[in-house]
Amino acid sequence: METVVSGIRSTGNLHLGNYFGAMKNFLRMQEEYNCFFFIADYHSLTTHPDPENLKGHVRQVLAEYLACGLNPEKCTLYIQSDVPEVAELYLLLNMNAYLGELERATTFKEKARKHPDNINAGLLTYPVLMAADILLHKAAKVPVGKDQEQHLEMTRQFGNRFNRMYRVDYFPEPVAFNFGGQLVKVPGLDGSGKMGKSEGEGNAVFLFDTDEAIRKKVMRAVSDSGPTEPDSPKSEAIQNLFTLMSLVSDAETLKSFEEAYNHCTIRYGDMKKQLAEDMIRFVRPLRERIADTLQNEKLLGEVMKTGREKARESAAKTVKEVRELMGIRY
Ligand code: ADP
Ligand code: TRP
Repeated sequence: METVVSGIRSTGNLHLGNYFGAMKNFLRMQEEYNCFFFIADYHSLTTHPDPENLKGHVRQVLAEYLACGLNPEKCTLYIQSDVPEVAELYLLLNMNAYLGELERATTFKEKARKHPDNINAGLLTYPVLMAADILLHKAAKVPVGKDQEQHLEMTRQFGNRFNRMYRVDYFPEPVAFNFGGQLVKVPGLDGSGKMGKSEGEGNAVFLFDTDEAIRKKVMRAVSDSGPTEPDSPKSEAIQNLFTLMSLVSDAETLKSFEEAYNHCTIRYGDMKKQLAEDMIRFVRPLRERIADTLQNEKLLGEVMKTGREKARESAAKTVKEVRELMGIRY
């Protein structure tokens, strides 16, 4: 069975974009592949998080992933820093990662521009650590969005370079993978194209949002002055509301608002009310499960332990073989 690896940022709080864009694929992958999903807490240290915040975020992310349905019996779910083998592979791969190529990474350039006072070596070698995450389990497939394509290309580069240098066919070439379909893009509530946590206030609906917060955000969503002729095209903001409705409402509801729009009888207030209630119906059970999971110390501890053990078994094998291939066998 092919191996899938994906790292999850530890900066917490999933929104509906993360759920429909990434999580749903993870849920399907855990049924069909040998999956390793981990929380990338080492990576987050590049921005020097407050220790208490880091701890809170990692637990929150873990609880959210469990609540959404990632199943530790079906996949290996672990915390990156629980697997020290990744640090060793990272060190070894760093010897063959060149300054020029690291400086050319767009993510590095962007972060260096945004935070000129914190251009640390961890930031520069971020793609090497990501390559170590992936190569550690000799993954064939990596479910990532467009923004991570360049990092994945660098992973292939590092793996192939290793194979050439040591004249072996050891690391497979990992490819981006999302079941071949178009990636779903979940729109935001502010009329913009994408729901995202770094967009403006009110753009994203989080799985941990209260019913009241969801109602408020949806009722404030950007709309327009309404259709003036039958069957007129929709503005982006209105299309966004319909797209969101298609994700959380039933087909009948969606159809009735489509018809109302086409007949120019639509009242956006009614549509938003319906959308808010359907979002709440979708989010509430997830929120409740997240809260329960967060309080369940025993469960979280067990999940981390099982994940750590399974991940280390796979990781230790790779690191042992890599050391041998490099000549670290005295
Ligand atoms: P954000 O953009 O809010 O910072 P991330 O980049 O951390 O979110 O998202 C992690 C993953 O979630 C992405 O790689 C992508 O697969 C998915 N994702 C995030 N936002 C959306 C969205 N609006 N629509 C679809 N998928 C999304
Ligand atoms: N860099 C990825 C992101 O920002 C997270 C990540 C770290 C990752 N290591 C990985 C993703 C390995 C896939 C595979 O989203």
